Amino acid sequence: MGDIIAMVGRMIGKQLSRWTLAWFAWALCFLIAALGLGVVGLAGPGAWSTGLALAAVHLFALGWLGMMMLGALIQFTPVLCARPVAWPGLALSALLLTGGGTAVLAAGFLSLEGWGPGQGLLAAAPVLLAAGFGLAGAMLVPTLIAAKGLAGAEGRMVVLALIALAGLWATGTVMAAALAGAGLPVSLPDAMPAHILLGAGGWLTLAAFGVSYKLFAMFLLAPETDGPLRRAVFGGAGLALGLTFGGAGLALIGRGALPLSLLAALAGAASAGLYLAETARLWRSRRRPQLEVNMRWSRAALAFLALSALLLPAAMLWGGRWAEAAIFLALAGWLSTLTLAQMVRIVSFLTWIQIFAPQIGRRPVPLVSDLTDARATGRWLGLWTAGVAGGTAALAMGHAGGFRLAALAMLLGALGLGREAWAIRRLRHLDPARRPDRLPPVILPLPFQGAPHDRPRSLRA
Ligand code: HEM
Repeated sequence: MGDIIAMVGRMIGKQLSRWTLAWFAWALCFLIAALGLGVVGLAGPGAWSTGLALAAVHLFALGWLGMMMLGALIQFTPVLCARPVAWPGLALSALLLTGGGTAVLAAGFLSLEGWGPGQGLLAAAPVLLAAGFGLAGAMLVPTLIAAKGLAGAEGRMVVLALIALAGLWATGTVMAAALAGAGLPVSLPDAMPAHILLGAGGWLTLAAFGVSYKLFAMFLLAPETDGPLRRAVFGGAGLALGLTFGGAGLALIGRGALPLSLLAALAGAASAGLYLAETARLWRSRRRPQLEVNMRWSRAALAFLALSALLLPAAMLWGGRWAEAAIFLALAGWLSTLTLAQMVRIVSFLTWIQIFAPQIGRRPVPLVSDLTDARATGRWLGLWTAGVAGGTAALAMGHAGGFRLAALAMLLGALGLGREAWAIRRLRHLDPARRPDRLPPVILPLPFQGAPHDRPRSLRA
């Protein structure tokens, strides 16, 4: 118990962000919408360029994964940097603009299906997204810089991820303008690999690397060391990002960029390999013999990362099914399995801190793990993982029916994990005698509960 309290104290202290659960809830809604489109067959093998499929891809990548990542970064950057986040009052506006911008972008893609108003929405979405990302950046970047975050491996990696997010936005915006008929010289086939590398590889994967350095060390009770392996991962990632920016720049002025994107993919795959070696080192040095459910299933996510990195060169050279399988493995396998497994743990942590941390020393408090049903969580994560494996096989074989079945398994897994998060918020797995009389809201924050820095200045004590 003592170690958990100490860990909680180190991890969150008094820096609880008020909107984290709202970021997570909105992200889960986007995930369910995207998978729903997959289940009914509107996105699947060989059919990713229709308006509805592009909507599904972006609901998944930007809505589900991007919003989970931004919500988690706003919560954990203060932990990575050991100082309060800058401008905490911007979190709600960032949430509304990012969520709204993603929904508008998805609706805008319907212009490709002949829906007239979609053109205007496609033009408006990048503006909303720029405002949302900008506000989130205004919270995160000064916090990382002021805390000399660049000196730590995790902070450095998050800064690289945020640079990739800016590049992702720029490539997406130029492509959206070209689709809306702006008559730009951009070469879309050349811009696409850079766009996908910046999104799945740069922004999401590098942010996941940075956050996982801290979370894995905490959950495994392993010593944190910023050794040569971490510096090599950073070097490889920086090189890959530089080459991707070069490729994107060439594509945006209408020049061939595929050789540069291929080199970027190779550097990215090598960096992923080094990250996996570093994670294996961390795993071996752990002091927690019995792995908790979030860490057990994180191994599946790491295996998907390895597979996706191995497929990357083939995806760049031959495209088609190779590319579909590699991108799906990265987005649904590596990033989503990791996110879903850690989401359950983070929700129970936040719930425990909100409800029980103030009672420490006054009455016996439960363990964080008492709030979760580890077996049910494991079953839903197992179903999700089986769905991802089936979906990858279906994409590799071009089997539309198999992909719909896999999407259904993933949808059920996601719904089960969403239900589990809800049960944690309601303390359903805790003996009723140990539950407090009143529980906080499931998603929205209590008015002005949370950290003092998160309140309007006029209401601070
Ligand atoms: C993590 C974030 C993102 C990921 C992983 C991602 C991924 C993708 C993928 C895989 C495609 C190609 C689908 C296909 O045709 O096979 C695509 C296309 C596209 N993306 Fe994104 N994207 C992301 C963010 C964005 C953002 C922020 C914008 C806009 C600001 C955007 C705008 C577009 C546009 C306009 C296209 C269509 C290009 C065309 O069909 O010619 N994307 N994206």
